[in-house]
Amino acid sequence: MCGIVAGLAQRDISKILIEGLHRLEYRGYDSAGVAVIDPAGELRRARAVGKVRALEDELREAPLSGAIGVAHTRWATHGRPAQHNAHPHLSSERVAVVHNGIIENHEALRGELEGAGYVFTSETDTEVVAHLVDRELCSGLALPEAVNAVTARLDGAFALAVMEQRNPELLVGARQGSPLVVGVGIDEHFIASDPLALLPVTDRFIYLDEGDMVAITPAGIQVLERTGDRDELTPVTREVVRYEHSVEAAGKGEYRHFMMKEIMEQPRVLSRTLAERLDPQGVRLEAFDVSRHSFLAASAGNESGAEGGKQGVDVARLTQLFADVRQVQIIACGTSYHAGMVARYWLEEVAGIPAQVEVASEFRYRERVAAPGTLFLTLSQSGETADTLAALRDIQKLNREGPQAGHYLASLAICNVAGSSLVRESDLSLLTHAGPEIGVASTKAFTTQLVALMLTTLALRQAKGDGQTDDLLSRQLLMRLKDLPHVIEQSLALDGEIAQLAEKFMHRHHTLFLGRGSQYPIAMEGALKLKEISYIHAEAYAAGELKHGPLALIDEDMPVVAVAPMDDLMEKLKSNLQEVRARGGQLFVFADPEVSLKAGEGVHVVTVPGVCRFLAPIVYAVPLQLLSYHVAVLKGTDVDQPRNLAKSVTVE
Ligand code: G6P
Repeated sequence: MCGIVAGLAQRDISKILIEGLHRLEYRGYDSAGVAVIDPAGELRRARAVGKVRALEDELREAPLSGAIGVAHTRWATHGRPAQHNAHPHLSSERVAVVHNGIIENHEALRGELEGAGYVFTSETDTEVVAHLVDRELCSGLALPEAVNAVTARLDGAFALAVMEQRNPELLVGARQGSPLVVGVGIDEHFIASDPLALLPVTDRFIYLDEGDMVAITPAGIQVLERTGDRDELTPVTREVVRYEHSVEAAGKGEYRHFMMKEIMEQPRVLSRTLAERLDPQGVRLEAFDVSRHSFLAASAGNESGAEGGKQGVDVARLTQLFADVRQVQIIACGTSYHAGMVARYWLEEVAGIPAQVEVASEFRYRERVAAPGTLFLTLSQSGETADTLAALRDIQKLNREGPQAGHYLASLAICNVAGSSLVRESDLSLLTHAGPEIGVASTKAFTTQLVALMLTTLALRQAKGDGQTDDLLSRQLLMRLKDLPHVIEQSLALDGEIAQLAEKFMHRHHTLFLGRGSQYPIAMEGALKLKEISYIHAEAYAAGELKHGPLALIDEDMPVVAVAPMDDLMEKLKSNLQEVRARGGQLFVFADPEVSLKAGEGVHVVTVPGVCRFLAPIVYAVPLQLLSYHVAVLKGTDVDQPRNLAKSVTVE
């Protein structure tokens, strides 16, 4: 959702910024821009509508160079994608600003600035920031103080990078509600929305805290904390963290699309998510990290723990906490929400704990009652999704207000990014080791989330088991989990067969997905994947609901995809499928080898490797990912960057 990259170096920065924009393109791709202060001291800017490629074409015609610069890839919120709305935004040819987030009070500020004689050239909310900074500079403030004074007046979420033409040796960043990291180089330093942007130039990062500012000069990096009613800036030390993934991890490798690469990586990343987290007794609670100030930290003040500013957990305290859990409230968005829906079935059946799942954008805006002993569990690939983060902050505020306001036991984040806001602000976290996921449609992040959720379910069961030594179900599930990467490998082998099947979807306008039990969320995820990247309208139904409405839609033009593992609901699902067939619907069934379903006229059966019913949702997700991928390729859509979407949604 907009990507920022900026830097100050001893060499021309423009190529580094453009490479950074390519790497951030997953965040928004409707326009892009860059500004530098050139060797003659002039502020120069280039902007183009469309992908970063279009900006590069423009730069080939009219190259820019300079040792300091700010750049941006946009996902439009205020003002249509157009050159005049693309960032960087300038004021008086003196100040250049790039912004990620939304300035909610921009209309009032725009009115005030127009009254003061500023002329606006865009419809964006961001342009007010450029003019406000200019006004503060004119009043005599230095750039860091000017940015601080301006941010104090902004409502909403933002990450900013700002430079001033008069001072080509100073770059300022500010973070409030939107992610921003500092890339620590040797004699050159950078700011970006995501470390991925900067991997070619550094692997060391400072993850700014909420409210932090940063001033970068040739002398180094100074992180500034706002103190005393926000108008004072105090230097503060923040940990430098080494990024764990290689530059290659963020590349496409031999694949045509990131999405296919990420689908194919699943066996490996599932193994990685399981690695060192299981021992013969069960799930190792040390797998859970705790945030710096968490009440669950092994020893307060010990900062040398796990990655991303996390540290070791007090296992005894965590066991007690898990034993005290009476309910789990799961909050997430998009694909992560579907992972949460699967987990509800597991938590209730395997751990015997009631669970509720809700999308963050709904949860945060309603009056709620938390049952005593509720664990608040957030799921997010990025750890920066605005609604999910806001929901977490909301319940933390309630917790501070006291038990009568609805107290949550603790917050647990299942997340793919170690230094993300969600991880740092939750009491506990469990990382999914999926590696960078660049394709907008989530695949490996989803299946690793499911594995992490199964680990959490088993850890809760263990804690409730009061030292029960022979827990057969746990033992069986642990064994099957270890075998899971191998089963996923087998389901990836269906790729060729599914690619052929995809031809039957490419000219369709609508598709129904059906599943029952814990496969219902998998049907939802299959439908989401198809609509996201192939733009075919797809809806998912719990198969038992078919007769309450969607059956009216069935005719020979409506493909119906069903997920049919071997479980207690199999016979019921089969009856639902008969209902479709009787009305001429075309069936595409992904089925267990033991499900006796015959392919024939109007019935296509893809046999999915046999798997225990608990882990079946993870295995069945994979062929549905492949199906949507191949349909999108046949339709010629932009698989990795589908229209109107962005990977990381850091605005409401
Ligand atoms: C966006 C992405 C989805 C993702 C959702 C939640 O909509 O396009 O792929 O599932 O955000 O993101 P999160 O990072 O919180 O999992």
